[in-house]
Amino acid sequence: MNMATLSEPETDFSRLPELPRDVFTAPLQRPGHLKEDWIEPIQTQYSSEDHGVWNDLFKRQMKVLPGRAASAFLAGLEKLDLGRGGVPEFGKMSEELDALTGWTVVPVPMLIPDHVFFWHLANRRFPAGNFIRTRETFDYIQEPDVFHDVFGHVPMLTDPVFADYMQEYGRAGWKAMRYNRLKALGALYWYTVEFGLIEEADGLKAYGAGILSGPTEVVFATEAKSPNRIMLNVDRAMRTDYVISDLQPTYFVIESFEDLYRQTVERDFDRLYRSLAASFTYANSAVIDVDNVVNRGTQEYHLRGGRGSNATPV
Ligand SMILES: [Fe+2]
Repeated sequence: MNMATLSEPETDFSRLPELPRDVFTAPLQRPGHLKEDWIEPIQTQYSSEDHGVWNDLFKRQMKVLPGRAASAFLAGLEKLDLGRGGVPEFGKMSEELDALTGWTVVPVPMLIPDHVFFWHLANRRFPAGNFIRTRETFDYIQEPDVFHDVFGHVPMLTDPVFADYMQEYGRAGWKAMRYNRLKALGALYWYTVEFGLIEEADGLKAYGAGILSGPTEVVFATEAKSPNRIMLNVDRAMRTDYVISDLQPTYFVIESFEDLYRQTVERDFDRLYRSLAASFTYANSAVIDVDNVVNRGTQEYHLRGGRGSNATPV
């Protein structure tokens, strides 16, 4: 398989590559006790209250996930026994995950710089938040905490093909940085890793962590009338704007993880980046003539003002 077009085969990922000059990324200040890999030397010692928050979040999700979550995700939860109680201990979880697909999970204090994030993924390390939300922020937090990162993302890393896709995504980061097209590559992550849907024999299921780690979007993404559901086309998704703090107006659907992997690694990304505008071409609710539409949404939820207006997520 030709994988030369997405990532750079000549790039040495054993050491942290330098951030290319003139690349626009979020300015993040590294806490003084961390090295340039941004990994926390020890995992947080969670209190019994913290473990209780994890357990309650877990229980809440398990009420809505059966029949709506991808079978690969539910299988991953089982394989890693993430419901054994409390925030998982990363050492043990990493050992089990490593035995399955060669991935490990490392604690980080917060969102980390793009090039460091890509570097970890390229080395099959998944950076996960070293903190958990409180009862006050139980329903919604903007910063990804350990529940979002571990419950939402880690089960999918037990799937061998998805695990390879995540590594290729990390390897792809440098090319996007050199073309200053991180926004486009970020949209691909958003519409697959965070908010992706997959076709299964008995209907559409969610495999994206942003959907699976909250109770409302699981139902909205798979069943509501409002959102568009469109078969994934990598070029199209990378040109599409997205919503950060509300439910998505559009979800992209894959046939299989093999299809996702193939579509991504076989695309000529040099050519794509050269043709992409610096900003997004398509609005997040757009349906365009080349789309293979699974169903066109009414957009009722967003037309009624979305979260800001307390609209019903129908
Ligand atoms: Fe995430």
